[in-house]
Amino acid sequence: MMKDKFEWHEVANIADTSSDRPLEVIVGDTVVILVKFGKDVMAYQGLCPHQFARLSQGTIAGDSLHCPRHKASFDIHDGTCGPGWQLPALRQYRVRIKAGVVLLAYPLAVKAGQD
Ligand code: FES
Repeated sequence: MMKDKFEWHEVANIADTSSDRPLEVIVGDTVVILVKFGKDVMAYQGLCPHQFARLSQGTIAGDSLHCPRHKASFDIHDGTCGPGWQLPALRQYRVRIKAGVVLLAYPLAVKAGQD
């Protein structure tokens, strides 16, 4: 069996994640948010690329995450910025779920296709 090139660290129980409200976790010195989507959990940078508001204080409506400060929106599927703003997509991190626990690669690794 091939060895995994990442170390995986437990950051939350899946039961603590929600599709209504991002859950903030700190990995090293990086703020990350977890958002449940169906059976999956997505992990994104936790600070807004506009003026660094904590996205864990934002709201999720439909498929969009809204920043709490100036209301920029980001698609919850891929982190891309919504209409009316020209911000970079949210950095998305690799996630694993094992036995009800959410694991993130450490050091944080961006999801394939974003690196
Ligand atoms: S800080 Fe997020 S939209 Fe301005």
